[in-house]
Amino acid sequence: MSVNPMLQAATHSRDHSGHFRSTAEQHDRLGERSASRSSNARPADRYDGLTRFFHWVFAAVIIYASVVGYALAHTAGGAVHDFLSRLNMSVSTVLILLFPLRLIWKFVRAEPRALPVASAWQRSLASGVHNLIYLTIFTVLASGFLMVPNGYSFFGVVEIHTPFAKGALTEHIFAVHRASCALLAGLIVLHVLAVVKHQLIARINVLGRML
Ligand code: HEM
Ligand code: HEM
Repeated sequence: MSVNPMLQAATHSRDHSGHFRSTAEQHDRLGERSASRSSNARPADRYDGLTRFFHWVFAAVIIYASVVGYALAHTAGGAVHDFLSRLNMSVSTVLILLFPLRLIWKFVRAEPRALPVASAWQRSLASGVHNLIYLTIFTVLASGFLMVPNGYSFFGVVEIHTPFAKGALTEHIFAVHRASCALLAGLIVLHVLAVVKHQLIARINVLGRML
């Protein structure tokens, strides 16, 4: 893959003592200077703790539920299948409880500083993909819940009631679940490729913003 020479030129330059400095470092220094001049309310370099917590819990559960979901789709029924299917529903239900909180937090949190070399269209592309990920997670969770006929047990502790009996409607909702799961998997691949591209090719520590 070729590296955009403009980007390379933009990301590194020499200081007076001959050392290379990345734009991010220079940006940090400028930020520090302007912060000491004005107030200490400048945007942070990384996402806040609650956003990071939500991000990695959702990432772990979604990756787990996708791998197990697709494995179950290709195996015949039986005791192990039923156990994993019930476990999958319980684990995914944790996200149903957390999703409204994550969504509210997205609207009230303070956003970190924009990436130093991101252009306006790159920023709106990233934010568009992030918004689409939220919408797709909602569709996956809602369809997963609504397509289960006659309720299910949450880790064997609480009985959860679902609204529809088995029939044409639950079959249609299953089709929505399958389609939204495939879309989510595709968006996540795209998202991870974008992170890898920033980290390894443009050499911007984007991962550090979420760790
Ligand atoms: C199921 C998997 C994942 C989902 C649903 C997901 C979703 C998101 C979303 C919605 C954001 C925007 C911030 C927010 O509102 O929370 C984000 C940011 C981010 N994600 Fe993920 N993510 C996933 C997996 C990963 C993985 C595996 C990595 C590491 C390779 C990663 C690295 C990042 C980074 C570095 C950011 C910050 C980007 C920035 O600075 O703007 N994500 N992710
Ligand atoms: C984290 C969110 C979720 C992900 C990533 C996910 C993923 C998947 C995947 C990949 C499949 C296989 C689709 C196919 O056959 O093509 C599947 C099936 C299924 N999902 Fe989900 N799902 C999620 C949430 C839920 C929820 C909340 C429920 C119900 C409470 C649920 C219930 C089911 C059921 C019953 C199946 C049919 C296969 C089975 O018996 O396990 N899912 N899911």
